[in-house]
Amino acid sequence: MASSISVHYLGHSCFHITTPRAKILIDPFLTGNPKAVAKAEDVQCDFILVSHAHADHFGDAVAISKRTGAMIIASYELALFAGSQGAKVHPMGCGGGKDFSFGRVQLTIAHHTSSVDGPGGSVMVGAPVGFLITVEGKVIYFAGDTALTMDMQLLGDRKPIDLALLPIGDNFTMGPEDAAEAVRLLKPKLSVPMHYNTFEMIQVDPEIFVREAGKHGYKVNVLSPGNRLSLP
Ligand code: NI
Ligand code: MN
Repeated sequence: MASSISVHYLGHSCFHITTPRAKILIDPFLTGNPKAVAKAEDVQCDFILVSHAHADHFGDAVAISKRTGAMIIASYELALFAGSQGAKVHPMGCGGGKDFSFGRVQLTIAHHTSSVDGPGGSVMVGAPVGFLITVEGKVIYFAGDTALTMDMQLLGDRKPIDLALLPIGDNFTMGPEDAAEAVRLLKPKLSVPMHYNTFEMIQVDPEIFVREAGKHGYKVNVLSPGNRLSLP
């Protein structure tokens, strides 16, 4: 049977998810991303989920929202910040969930920061989050940028996760060993690494993640930018 959900990896932490009801873009950092396989001007979507304000996630969100009319879903302060720039937005708070036309989105805890760089330095804009996305009966967990945290065990214990999208790049987020430990807590059917090898500071061998998660029986699919997977 043909799958109803397609997950297209556009590079770094950017994914384009197509369901029968919507096109959902996550963390659109395309302009200035050396690994991006799509141009911000070409992407079509109905919703844009943004995990935090850092440029390698918030990136093209406002421009794409203004061009397509897509709604940005983000934590409160970041949503209002995007709204002040002309984007269509829906603010949420960490732990909160909401049913949208395509499915449910719940904001999850991410241990990280969320800031924009200005002339005087970095200014915090909202809390960093991840997303638990329920579409067409499938559960996708997008961790955002985060450290390994026991909060992941709660997520793994409560609802079977079909796909976990996890940062492995180290330096700013979990590295591959911690990400493998995250997999043990989350117990997803499939994991995909993200947020690595885009820049010098996050050079990592994804095979370490594959090996360490594999030791505990968990399956990892390493996608190159441009690759797609279908949720069966
Ligand atoms: Ni970040
Ligand atoms: Mn980042």
